[in-house]
Amino acid sequence: MKSDQFPFNLPSLLEKLPIEGMDLWMKRDDLIHPIISGNKWRKLKGFFRGIDRTKTIITFGGAYSNHLPAAALTAKLHGMKIVGVVRGEELHQNSNNYLKYCASQGMELHFISRGDYRTLRSNGWKLNGLDPEIPDNHIILPEGGAGKHTLEGCKEIWQEIKNEFTPNHLVISSGTGATVHGILSAMSKNEKTRVHVISAVRGAVNEMSAICTYAESKGIKINWLDEAFGGFGKTTPELLQEIEEFQSQTEIQLDRNYNAKLWFWLKNNPLQGRIVWVNTGGLSL
Ligand SMILES: Cc1ncc(COP(=O)(O)O)c(C=O)c1O
Repeated sequence: MKSDQFPFNLPSLLEKLPIEGMDLWMKRDDLIHPIISGNKWRKLKGFFRGIDRTKTIITFGGAYSNHLPAAALTAKLHGMKIVGVVRGEELHQNSNNYLKYCASQGMELHFISRGDYRTLRSNGWKLNGLDPEIPDNHIILPEGGAGKHTLEGCKEIWQEIKNEFTPNHLVISSGTGATVHGILSAMSKNEKTRVHVISAVRGAVNEMSAICTYAESKGIKINWLDEAFGGFGKTTPELLQEIEEFQSQTEIQLDRNYNAKLWFWLKNNPLQGRIVWVNTGGLSL
């Protein structure tokens, strides 16, 4: 079985939104799959291609990570064992619906302290005997599904858009920058589409610098916007109202961490010409 033979809606729909005064199109990656949605399959595809299925996958995330449920289900569909290392030693598998879902898909959950989690992150996810119960025959999938393998699937977002038309603007939200990196890597040198990145993480200066330097090295115009609501996961009554209004206009539910913040920026900073917004999904379990 090839990993891209799952019941995925690919290529994802490119849909014109009924927003007056804007030539706005949405790349509906949120419809790729109910759980492995948005950029999750795009990021995981390269990791699972040709993977040694006898290994146990070890991956990492917070209690509300979108990555952990997606990784749990993808591993199950590949017939592989997977361990989720979760930030927060006080938690357990019934702490919330995300963790419950992971456990229901067969993911083994290990809860560690925030300090240990930080150490892991700064060690590049090397376990160094941190948990003796973790099997030796394992393969590491970093937090958020990050890694060079993400380029393969994320490139396809741009290839699919290009097959339809070349927009004047591409707008996308960002955490680690992996998804936008993949898109940029698929763009031609001096591509005329201008890229706008709305960061979900406040003050992500390293990510900003890496992505902007890369885009500029290819002659692509890029505009990086810092998170504007007080930090990752923070909302305001205005933002929540915007989510509701957007839903009543379009019947599309936006996730509040990434795509709602993008829409808030876009609505208040209208762009001229044809715009493609890549909806990177987001679960509400
Ligand atoms: C819904 C959603 N949108 C956007 C992102 C940001 O993606 P990246 O970390 O590749 O920038 C994430 C995190 O993976 C996400 O869960």
